[in-house]
Amino acid sequence: MARHLVTSALPYINGVKHLGNLVGSMLPADVVARYLRARGHEVLFICATDEHGTPAELAAAEAGLDVQVFCDQAHAVQADLNARYGLSFDFFGRTSDQHNHVLTQHFARQLAQAGLLEKRTIEMIYSPTDGRFLPDRYVTGTCPYCGYDKARGDQCDGCGRLLDPTMLINPRSTVSGATDLEVRASASLFLRQSQMVDTVANWVDQTTGLGDLPRSIARKWLDEGLEDRDITRDLKWGIPVPSDLPGIDPEGLANKVWYVWFDAPIGYIGATAQWADANGADYRDWWFGEAASDVTYTQIMGKDNVAFHTVSFPITQLGSGEPWKMVDRLKAFNWLTYYGGKFSTSQGVGVFMDQALEVASADAWRWYLISNAPESSDTSFTWDAFARAMNTELAGNLGNYVNRCLAFTAKKFAGEDGPVVPSEGTPGEIEYELGRDVAAKVDDIALHFDAMEMRKATRAIRELWSLGNQYLETREPWRMVKTDPDMAQMVLRTAIQLIPIFASVASPVIPNTATTLGNAVDVSVDAWPEQVADLIPSAGIVPAGQPFTVPPILFAKVDDQQIEEWSARFGGQR
Ligand code: 2FM
Ligand code: ZN
Repeated sequence: MARHLVTSALPYINGVKHLGNLVGSMLPADVVARYLRARGHEVLFICATDEHGTPAELAAAEAGLDVQVFCDQAHAVQADLNARYGLSFDFFGRTSDQHNHVLTQHFARQLAQAGLLEKRTIEMIYSPTDGRFLPDRYVTGTCPYCGYDKARGDQCDGCGRLLDPTMLINPRSTVSGATDLEVRASASLFLRQSQMVDTVANWVDQTTGLGDLPRSIARKWLDEGLEDRDITRDLKWGIPVPSDLPGIDPEGLANKVWYVWFDAPIGYIGATAQWADANGADYRDWWFGEAASDVTYTQIMGKDNVAFHTVSFPITQLGSGEPWKMVDRLKAFNWLTYYGGKFSTSQGVGVFMDQALEVASADAWRWYLISNAPESSDTSFTWDAFARAMNTELAGNLGNYVNRCLAFTAKKFAGEDGPVVPSEGTPGEIEYELGRDVAAKVDDIALHFDAMEMRKATRAIRELWSLGNQYLETREPWRMVKTDPDMAQMVLRTAIQLIPIFASVASPVIPNTATTLGNAVDVSVDAWPEQVADLIPSAGIVPAGQPFTVPPILFAKVDDQQIEEWSARFGGQR
């Protein structure tokens, strides 16, 4: 079996993530990791909080907390929520961790050594009132493109354009409101990306698993010609620029830290190193040289992150001149919108991970989000679609089937010690055909998971569940029980075989429900179902005579009143 490294884009530390963040990286990454484990592969699934940059400093200031304290608390809140959603990270680390400091300095030294870092003097905004240079979001002002008067120094929320603080009209300090800002010369370190265009282009061309959308984003950046990039910032919180970089005069670089997008992707390696130290492992077995040559590395992220992962981070890795593990498969998502508008952390628009669990279970959300994942285009969240997923798919298609089989069997054929799988009756052609159909559908689902096609995989899972319901409709054991009880036993026994199969293939998406189902019939649902065509008619999965229990209702139906309530509470329309 193969070794798979899976990473989800690292969520920013500031604030609880919303459902758009969840479905854009962490949740599909979890589905991929769980699927690969079920196929028997060795999987290392890594994520971490992305803790540096101005958003962290500003959010801490707003909360009246020291940045370190703010990040400690926010990390714990996110880790707890991740666990409640069943995100099965082998490790959820932090980019502020020492391992990431060490690795980031290592990469910086390698890049300096290779002549890819260059000190330049640039013009920056200085605030005498604040006594500091003001990077990125520390400056607010009017957008030169659209006139929006609360544009941030890095980006305008009015028109979405990327900005530089010096471009803002009527700039003011975000912290103090001071307007007596000056433009002063300051030293910065530039990453000479322009030197790396050919190297990265070759790598992009050779890496077949990037996928069409990521490849075209990378090609667009490369074809437009890469500009050298300032990778230092005037912040206190971050990884300090060291004074001993090979060939770089440190004059003017004290009090600077690396730009957050420089250290964040290195955080994938940093978090692996954190995990490795805690587990007696070596992170290089997953990341470096020959030791990692058998590893397949999969990255999952939102589309806004693609350029950083197909161009910027590869420049860091390839520019180091060392044999770092590069991404093999990349899956990018579009946006989940909230009734067509933007989910927004800063403006509190949409449904956030903590609130969502107040109205439905983690598995309900996981199913809805994955089966509506914004894969080929943006997808709008609506409470109606959520209700449909709950009522028709989970409660209807799956829940009803399980209940029909188990509750009916228990009622009609319970032995003295409670319900057991019935043993009379001989399967016929219909049962053999069912076995073949189910086996083919299971293969279909696997192909979609292999291709990381979330919507197609969940659609095929629904079709699989429907095969079970159609079988019951065809055989009608509730009728047969009066006319031919042995035959009814055979049908119910056959139908019960499907329950652990339904659970196993869906377990990457709805793991808690899968476990409940497995427990009800006392079969492990951890592994992917194999060779089921013959096992179904021969009761080779849940043997005749085996005791079972009827699980409680898996998913409660959502009614109109609840939808009204939630729409009102969260601000969605119908
Ligand atoms: O867009 C984001 O949420 C970033 N925090 C993702 C970082 S991914 C990785 F490079 F760290
Ligand atoms: Zn604008």
